[in-house]
Amino acid sequence: MTAVVHGYGSSTSEGLPEQRCPMTGRGRPDAGAPDPGPQPVDRDEAVEFLELVDAEDAAGPDAEPLAQRRAAVLDEIEATGTYRHTGAELAFGALVAWRNSARCIGRLYWQTLQVRDRRHLTAPADVAAECVAHLRDATRGGRIRSSITVFAPDVPERPGPRIHNEQLIRYAGHRSPDGTVRGDPRLADFTDLVEKLGWRRPEPRGRFDVLPLLVSGPDGRPHLYDLPDDAVLEVPLTHPEFDWFTDLRLRWHAVPAISNMPLVIGGVRYPVAPFNGWYLNTEIGARNLADADRYDLLPAIASRMGLDTSSVRTLWRDRALVELTLAVQHSFDEAGVTMADHHTESDRFLTHLAKEAKAGRSRPADWTWVVPPLSGGLTSVFHRYYDDPRPEQRPAFLPPAPDAL
Ligand code: ARG
Repeated sequence: MTAVVHGYGSSTSEGLPEQRCPMTGRGRPDAGAPDPGPQPVDRDEAVEFLELVDAEDAAGPDAEPLAQRRAAVLDEIEATGTYRHTGAELAFGALVAWRNSARCIGRLYWQTLQVRDRRHLTAPADVAAECVAHLRDATRGGRIRSSITVFAPDVPERPGPRIHNEQLIRYAGHRSPDGTVRGDPRLADFTDLVEKLGWRRPEPRGRFDVLPLLVSGPDGRPHLYDLPDDAVLEVPLTHPEFDWFTDLRLRWHAVPAISNMPLVIGGVRYPVAPFNGWYLNTEIGARNLADADRYDLLPAIASRMGLDTSSVRTLWRDRALVELTLAVQHSFDEAGVTMADHHTESDRFLTHLAKEAKAGRSRPADWTWVVPPLSGGLTSVFHRYYDDPRPEQRPAFLPPAPDAL
């Protein structure tokens, strides 16, 4: 039996059911070979990182010379299987992990990332409370600040904590018996999972119900925490010309905060390091609310616009997509919430690449992610090629680990 804490008070639910991971479909790792747990840090990766810190002059004013620091780190790895980054190394590692993210168009600002060092925390309740603090700090009433909170690393014999949500703020997908989903279909499996673990769905079920955080500590036991309302800024959507748009009662959360990508710096793995930027208009308008396997709103919008939907050749979907994205942009602007537009952000990304070239660094980028999903050819990022993504580059945010729940 596993006790599950729900919210900041506590209540218990029945035992942890047998589950498959909602993302991968995999079962628990102990089904076959035992999970070996965190491994000792790779010495070469550690040294390579220390050299990068030195080369970019990022060790901080009171730092030891490279040779001394390298010797100390190698001794520490020898004795303990891991080592502890200085505050400056941690901060630099997090910034460079962002700089290396080949899918991100917003990297011009990589040096402005606020790094919240919470490496002393492993207990799920502390992790959840600091995620709430992160959201409040990062949201600032709408003047969004890019931030990352780094929790305890995996060390030999003791894994760090885990956040199972893909983002700190996400909307539930409520599955009906007929297979349709109310809310975000992308989160339907995760919603079923947290319900099994003790979460009560709001009644009536809405399309924009904020999911609880699902956090496990080093012992692997999952705990649920509701996000307090004041930590979740949301923007109701209106359109600058279409009054009827308000009747659709759409909204989206202000802060995208990825919470399931491990951060790896110099061979040390931080499994929980949620990070946020601010939204680009098209992420919400041309994907989350538009994709047929997400909120799928184009048919409803086209019908309100009075468009002929009898053939794709009337371009009704394209026309509805522009108006939906315009509504998103307009609403965030009216609410005073930071949001980028795809034209400006594309130009800024090319500025970033030029700066990186000047600094003599490789500039990997993934064309399929960097080109916006609306009016690609109207943006500057469309019309060129990029250095290939280098998945082996470090420091890095890694793809989400297979979930053991
Ligand atoms: N595309 C994701 C979403 O719609 C967010 C990814 C990160 N985006 C960002 N602007 N930092 O929620």
